[in-house]
Amino acid sequence: MAAEQRVALVTGGNRGLGFATAQQLAQAGMKVLIGSREAENGEAAAQSLQQQGLDVLAYQLSVTDRGGIKVLAQLIETKFGRLDVLINNAGIYPDSDGDTLLTTNLGSIREALETNTYGPISLCQTCVPLMQANGYGRIVNVSSGMGQLNDMGGGSPAYRLSKTALNSVTRILAAELEGTNIKVNSVCPGWVQTDMGGSEAPRTPAEGADTIAWLAQIPDDAPSGLFWRDRTPIPW
Ligand SMILES: NC(=O)c1ccc[n+]([C@@H]2O[C@H](COP(=O)([O-])OP(=O)(O)OC[C@H]3O[C@@H](n4cnc5c(N)ncnc54)[C@H](OP(=O)(O)O)[C@@H]3O)[C@@H](O)[C@H]2O)c1
Repeated sequence: MAAEQRVALVTGGNRGLGFATAQQLAQAGMKVLIGSREAENGEAAAQSLQQQGLDVLAYQLSVTDRGGIKVLAQLIETKFGRLDVLINNAGIYPDSDGDTLLTTNLGSIREALETNTYGPISLCQTCVPLMQANGYGRIVNVSSGMGQLNDMGGGSPAYRLSKTALNSVTRILAAELEGTNIKVNSVCPGWVQTDMGGSEAPRTPAEGADTIAWLAQIPDDAPSGLFWRDRTPIPW
């Protein structure tokens, strides 16, 4: 590993937007650690990127497993001595068709919060100390326009609530890390062709990953605590 090679962790990096983001970060010269809740899926994803000559490794990681997150952070510290970039990408959409705030069960809201909000919180709690040790960090929370209060609609209550809460995580953590070189931003990737987005979506995973990968590489004088789409700040 080159002395200054940055190390990035992408949760849910085995498919969809996470995979495309891992590819773009590795193409930019980073060592990319793909977190995958099924080890074999992560291995297959990493191998396909390694075959392109990219520096990618896979690690088993469920973002709802706090113990597992701590073990991986310790491994990263021991093995690489640094973590420069955290992409909180892993996400679920547990709402059923027709779910509304009035009819949804609280279980699906809890489920969404566990993965989409508490997962990133646990990752930040565990990974920020590694970033602080090196005085550098870029955290990208993969959110959604569906969590945007400014443009809030009805339906999909579990998913919407979890992404609005994730945006709050971005704001709180950015405030708490103000004055450090650790930047925290939210991003809406747009509507993307993945298992979650479906085949009708207008964007390819590579197009959706563009702003995620860009935020992972913003310079020291770039803003923190903003919500972005297409490399442009958008309202909360
Ligand atoms: N696609 C869109 O149009 C769109 C729009 C706005 C925002 N987003 C956001 O973009 C992110 C990626 O979505 P995607 O479209 O790429 O979805 P996807 O194709 O369904 O992929 C979701 C990824 O998250 C992983 N994941 C789910 N729960 C996990 C857990 N507990 N631990 C670790 N990994 C977990 C999945 O792992 P498995 O393979 O093991 O299931 C998979 O790798 C999500 O946060 C999503 O909310 C997507």
